[in-house]
Amino acid sequence: MNKKINDIIAKKNKSKIVSLTAYSKNIAQIIDKYVDMTLVGDSVASVLYNYNTTRKISLDAMIEHAKSVRMGVHNSLMVFDMPYNTYKDKKNALLNAKKIIKKTKSDAVKLEGGSKIKDIVKHLIKNKIPVLGHLGIMPQSVRGKFKSKGKTDSERTKILKDAKVLEKLGVFAIVLECIEKSLAKKITNEVKVPTIGIGSSVYCDGQILVTDDLIGLTNSKIKFVKKYINISGNIATAVKKFKQEVKLKKYPTKKYSY
Ligand code: KIV
Repeated sequence: MNKKINDIIAKKNKSKIVSLTAYSKNIAQIIDKYVDMTLVGDSVASVLYNYNTTRKISLDAMIEHAKSVRMGVHNSLMVFDMPYNTYKDKKNALLNAKKIIKKTKSDAVKLEGGSKIKDIVKHLIKNKIPVLGHLGIMPQSVRGKFKSKGKTDSERTKILKDAKVLEKLGVFAIVLECIEKSLAKKITNEVKVPTIGIGSSVYCDGQILVTDDLIGLTNSKIKFVKKYINISGNIATAVKKFKQEVKLKKYPTKKYSY
């Protein structure tokens, strides 16, 4: 198996896994120095294209983003989030996964789902495509409001079972999205592969966030989003300064002219 994947697996119970999304080379090359995993997430659909669902992003659009990201990723594991309808059945999933890996040189793919997609996950892994699982809120299946998971006994039983199914199939890690903390803890304790949480408490083996949220490029009000910097403010300051200098003919000076 890919060394970077083995390194991620080896972090379980030793060191937290740090992961973020990237949709372009410029962001990828900044985060790559600090993260273990870079995800070309289908969240690009809402973050950059303003779609009301991740279902609307096409495979080809995501491939273009991933090609850009690839140019900035040299250290971390690069994972491609397979968009809606690209893993409908075993044949379609393998064809698309091969296309993704050939065109973007991604190290692995991520699929949303558990038992329901077990044959597809199994088929990809059998064909040497490393798979990252994703349970809890699965945005490709949500219609309407997102609700956290693991509040009822039946939901908890189903998610835990799905995590064990994915583990058995050979996924190298599982993203847990918005799962109630005691369930996230239980899954993390009971499966051997790392869990990577997003809104699923500190008990996961690692954390992932959407970079645009973390740097304050979006206006996300989601509970788990922590803004570590307000980059929009910095951009606005630079743009205002540029505007002022252009108006006052202070830019470009001799230094910036031919
Ligand atoms: O699409 C995405 O960005 C994701 C993560 C945030 C887990 O699936």
